[in-house]
Amino acid sequence: MKKIIKNGTIVTASDQYFGDILIEDGIIVMIGVDLDVPGAVVVDASGCYVFPGGIDPHTHLDMPFGGTVTADDFETGTIAAAFGGTTTVIDFCLTTKNEPLSKAVKTWHDKSKGKAVIDYGFHLMIGQMNDEVLEELPIIIEEQGITSLKVFMAYKNVFQADDGTLYKTLLAAKEHGALVMVHAENGDVIAHLIEQALAAGHTEPVYHALTRPAVLEGEATGRAAKLTEFADSQLYVVHVTCAEAVRQIEEARRKGVRVYGETCPQYLMLDQTDLEKPNFEGAKYVWSPPLREKWNQEVLWDALWSGSLQTVGSDQCSFNFNGQKDLGLNDFSKIPNGGPTIEDRFSILYSEGVRKGRISIHQFVDVISTQAAKLFGLFPQKGTIAIGSDADLVIFDPNAERTISAATHHMNVDYNAFEGLQITGEPVSVLVRGDFIIRNKQFVGTPGYGQYLRRKRFNPPAPALRTAGAEPVKGGVS
Ligand code: URP
Ligand code: ZN
Ligand code: ZN
Repeated sequence: MKKIIKNGTIVTASDQYFGDILIEDGIIVMIGVDLDVPGAVVVDASGCYVFPGGIDPHTHLDMPFGGTVTADDFETGTIAAAFGGTTTVIDFCLTTKNEPLSKAVKTWHDKSKGKAVIDYGFHLMIGQMNDEVLEELPIIIEEQGITSLKVFMAYKNVFQADDGTLYKTLLAAKEHGALVMVHAENGDVIAHLIEQALAAGHTEPVYHALTRPAVLEGEATGRAAKLTEFADSQLYVVHVTCAEAVRQIEEARRKGVRVYGETCPQYLMLDQTDLEKPNFEGAKYVWSPPLREKWNQEVLWDALWSGSLQTVGSDQCSFNFNGQKDLGLNDFSKIPNGGPTIEDRFSILYSEGVRKGRISIHQFVDVISTQAAKLFGLFPQKGTIAIGSDADLVIFDPNAERTISAATHHMNVDYNAFEGLQITGEPVSVLVRGDFIIRNKQFVGTPGYGQYLRRKRFNPPAPALRTAGAEPVKGGVS
């Protein structure tokens, strides 16, 4: 079956031009002007941008956490993602210290198979590096194409790994061609601050933020970057929230260390005062790391603009306000951490980023899709519009107006953290491998259509070293 996407403005991380895209068997086979192919179904994209499908490198679907399980699974979560213009997600496969990695990976395949409506891959958590893990890891990387490993530096007594594990994971990643991802916060000090706050009778949601200060994110980011330098390995810092962490990433990269960073829509749009909302509403805004003082938002936008940060992930980790977030009604430390963001990531970045002049349209494509494809071994199959690439495409109306609301979103959760935000620009149709998943704003996909992605090993060149008097080093992978 052939399709032609006609008369759209094609936009990639580097180019913008008017043209038609011919798709055959799910692949882009020709790009040109006035294409006319007998038998091809014509899809009119007049007045719209045609973007590469969004790649969300950070999701938690059907994940047990904080004494409950996320409200969105691989079906509801990927349907919502597709509505929002995302065609690939990379989800975090959790492991436990006493089970083989292969068992955890099988659990994640069981959760996703037959459910995902868009393509997906897994990152693999490393909780403790020991002989068994060292032996199994290269097999998982080779057979499963899981080329990114996640180490938590926080969540003491739950997911937190020690520095020895982080260092050994960095060494193993270097040897086998994987990218190490860190949740960078100092979990030991945070545990102490939480204990002190609760002992003083402070139970409200805002204490979540007050017990996780920015300095502890900066410290952990710097520590991870230094260990990466020492190991001569590669690091991706997830959900960067603040100036302290951004500066550490910049400093490392100026020295030529391969350190990359991601932020999320919530850190660009929301701030610590949201946690102070009355009637326990603040619980809706409990993420780790926490929302920061508002001035950090411009630091993060600037970091996306300058290339200090490479990607915007959603960190989708949804919990209902009623029945899940309220586990922490009398103790902020029991509020499940995370929020629903998978659906609005793409449009928020366009509306608040491109339309407000904070990033260019090409930077938008880069941070929402292309850089994730490059860093996580999917480029050029995904992350761009080119001959030979998967036809993962978003036909996007740049003038459509919408107000974000839980009443109209597609996530399986009873609130939206961006409730009431007015945005301009919206996906009209979304294709994965040439098939419509969303057509004219209606879901037309099928659970189970999404394919598991075996990803290539990590292999980008090191960024150029900074020389005296030169501009700040751009951090992207080319
Ligand atoms: O609060 C968050 N970020 N929840 C999801 C788990 C994580 O730390 O990424
Ligand atoms: Zn995290
Ligand atoms: Zn996360």
